[in-house]
Order: sequence, then structure tokens, then C-alpha cells
Amino acid sequence: MQQQKTRVSWLASLFFLCGVHPSSEKKMNMKKSRVSEKQLSITRLSFSDFGKSASPKDLSSSLVGSNLHIFTLAELKLVTRNFSNTNLLGEGGFGPVYKGQVDEKLRPGLKRQTVAVKLLDLEGMQGHKEWLAEVIFLGQLRHTNLVKLIGYCYEDEHRLLVYEFMERGSLENHLFQKFVPPLPWKARMRIAVGAAKGLAFLHEAEQPVIYRDFKASNILLDSDYEAKLSDFGLAKDGPLGDETHVSTRVMGTQGYAAPEYIMTGHLSARSDVFSFGVVLLELLTGRRSVDKNRCRREESLVEWAKPHLRDHRRIYRIIDPCLLDGNYSTKAAQIAASLAYQCLSHRPKSRPHISTVVSTLQSIQDLDVDIKEPVIVYVATEDGNMLLKEETKNKDVVEPPAINTNRHCHKRRGARYLKSFSYSDTALYRNCPTRRRNGRA
Ligand SMILES: Nc1ncnc2c1ncn2[C@@H]1O[C@H](COP(=O)(O)OP(=O)(O)OP(=O)(O)O)[C@@H](O)[C@H]1O
Ligand SMILES: [Mg+2]
Repeated sequence: MQQQKTRVSWLASLFFLCGVHPSSEKKMNMKKSRVSEKQLSITRLSFSDFGKSASPKDLSSSLVGSNLHIFTLAELKLVTRNFSNTNLLGEGGFGPVYKGQVDEKLRPGLKRQTVAVKLLDLEGMQGHKEWLAEVIFLGQLRHTNLVKLIGYCYEDEHRLLVYEFMERGSLENHLFQKFVPPLPWKARMRIAVGAAKGLAFLHEAEQPVIYRDFKASNILLDSDYEAKLSDFGLAKDGPLGDETHVSTRVMGTQGYAAPEYIMTGHLSARSDVFSFGVVLLELLTGRRSVDKNRCRREESLVEWAKPHLRDHRRIYRIIDPCLLDGNYSTKAAQIAASLAYQCLSHRPKSRPHISTVVSTLQSIQDLDVDIKEPVIVYVATEDGNMLLKEETKNKDVVEPPAINTNRHCHKRRGARYLKSFSYSDTALYRNCPTRRRNGRA
């Protein structure tokens, strides 16, 4: 049996190198009548081509063309200083994530770099299936707006993933964590474009992928605010041919999942577009998709914001109060708001294609040329804390508007005190260590 499995995977790797997998080929033959000519040139191994019980050897030989490094647990302990707490970057549903250093002493050809090592929590809710999905999808998909998987470890019950390190952590941390300076408008739009391009790459691939877990915590940022999608544990091969959706168990994150998907389990690229609309709203408003700390009327971001999105005169009611007047283009905000409105349509067919989302957001970036960039300074207060202040260039330091004067402003920005000095907005972002959910850089 084992021998047979190995033979199959050896064949698989051969076909993988040639561009077609045997079981993909068989499946394609079965579906031939429904699948268009274009889709016959499938080059990626799909998730269903792997049994959940694929052995480490099966996996490594099947993914032989993907250049993934296979690490031992002992090696990953070494690079993360024994999974030390000082290296902890954060923790999600899969398990803790640690910072580490690798170089070619570990593997020939491995460049010296910082990595993020994600360790499966053996007591947690996720397991081998999510780990395998990540290895299979991210191992084969490469794009500027997807985080790069460098390698993995598959040893006994241990499952680990090794990624390129993303200096600025997740979008969620930048938007919602205390003591993190507000993201400037341009950075928000750059992130929205990058994340949309990542989704477009998945949706428009010859063998499309539905991401299924698009949310602020899964968008990681590099030093230039280039957005990269991470976490492919829930990703699904998209429908082929004339099919409009795939049927799945309903999984994902409350507040981001599309209503028709929650109701029926029918998953399509348009479900990702809905989730994109939610993240775009988070970028515009600075509010979480679901916030139990707010009054009931405002708990759900989509329900609260949607009535304001189409009326250009009401846009100021929902824009993040941390984005002061003049620091963003009103016209761009109006276009982004109406794009979010379309993405959030209850009818999947009325939502735009992700390529339209990308082009609309790119056109907004061109409207940004004249906006004033804020300069953030810190001023010592009598009690020795640092107060975040904002000034426009060539002016004395001015008080930022009181945080709670805007009736929609939330207490999340209430504590804008920091212990460190930074001078300008740009310097601030460059110098400020990225703060993680668990507070470590
Ligand atoms: N490649 C990476 N580079 C830098 N930091 C990372 C990287 N991957 C993850 N992190 C950090 O680890 C944290 C946890 O990430 P993880 O994806 O495991 O969980 P999450 O997205 O917060 O939650 P969920 O389980 O709902 O996806 C992230 O918030 C991020 O700050
Ligand atoms: Mg995540």
C-alpha cells in the first residue's frame, strides 16, 4: 500500500514537472464536456489530488518543482531560539508564530534572511488539513502579493510552516491595535490595491483559487506597505468550466463571510469580493468588521456603514476620524466607498469582478497626488508620557482634534500615548517596531 502510494506520488511529481498531474488529468477527462479548452492546460496540483494521509515522502516528491525547503523540528527550534517567547510574533487559530534567522549554513541555496515560523498548536482547532492546504497552495502559487512560503516541517505529529518575514506585521495590527499610529490614507490605498491584486491573481489563475479567509489579520505588510495575503488553510480550488460555485462546509470569519455563503455553503470568487468589501470598509472607517464594544446599531460594520456609502455628502460620517481633513482625497474616498458598496451587494452577481476592483482602486491612487501628508510628532507631557500630535508642514505643533468629539469615534484611539520619540510620519513608520497582537516585535 505504502509502496503504491509512493509510486503514485513519484508519477505525480513527474507529471508536475511536465505540467499535468495524473489524477488532474483523469478528473479533467471526466469533466471534459464541461471544461473549456483554456482550462485543459492545468499546471497546478489541486488540493484534492492529495490524500489527507499523504506521507512526508509523498508530499515532498509531489511538490518537487516548488523549491520548498523541508526542515526538521530540531532545525526550526534552533533558528527560533527554541521557540523563545522573545521571538514570538503573534498567535492565531493555527498556533504561535515565531521570528527566526536562516542562512545557507542551514540549507545550501537558502539566502540569509529573517523568517516567520508558524507552529501548529497540537491542542488547537486546526490541524493537518489546514497545514496541508497551506503547503499545497502557497507552495505552488507565487506572486508579489502573496506571502512567500519558504519551507515546512512534517515530523511525527508536528506541523510547521516557514515564511518570509513581513516587517510590518498584519493590517489588523495597524488598524486596530492600541499605541500604533494611524495609517495614512496613501498607505491604506496602497494596501487595498495590493490585496486586491493578490485576490485577482488567485481568481484569474488557469485553475482558480478561492481564498475564503480574506480579512485584515491575513493581510501582511512588508516594509513598503506592500500587502501580501497569508493563511491559505481554508483556500479552495474554484469551480471549473461553467460551474458558478463549489459547495463547502461553511468556514471563515464572522463579519467577513458573504451572506449567501453562510446561508447555502455555495462558495464563489464573488464571496471573496464581498470579504474584500468588508476590509475596504475597515480601511475607510478604521472600525472592525464586528465590534462588540459598540452599541448594537453599530456592532456590525457593514450594517452601520452601508446606508452612508452611496451618498457622497454623507461620506464624512463614516471616514476614520484619525484621517484628518485634507489628509485624504474626498473624491477618492467617495469612489472607494461606492466600490465597497458594490462589493457588499447581497446579490453575488451584482458584485464587481476583482479585476474591476483593482482598476478602480488604481485610478483612485492617481487622485491622491495633491493631498497633504501629515507630520506626526511626539510631545512630552508633564507626567513624562509622550503625546501624539499632528502638524501640517511649516506650522507649529497643533492639537489633534479631541478623540471623542466625533460621535462615531471609538475609544480604540483613546490612548495615544507612546514611550518613544519619532519625528515625521515617514520616520515614525520606519523607526517604530511593528507591534504584534502579543506585543512583541
Ligand atoms: N510572515 C509573517 N511575518 C511577520 N509576522 C507574521 C507572519 N505571519 C504571521 N505573523 C504574525 O503572527 C500573527 C498571527 O498570525 P496568524 O496568521 O497565525 O493568525 P491570525 O491571522 O492573527 O488569526 P487567524 O488564525 O484568524 O488567521 C499575525 O497577526 C502576524 O502579526
Ligand atoms: Mg492569519
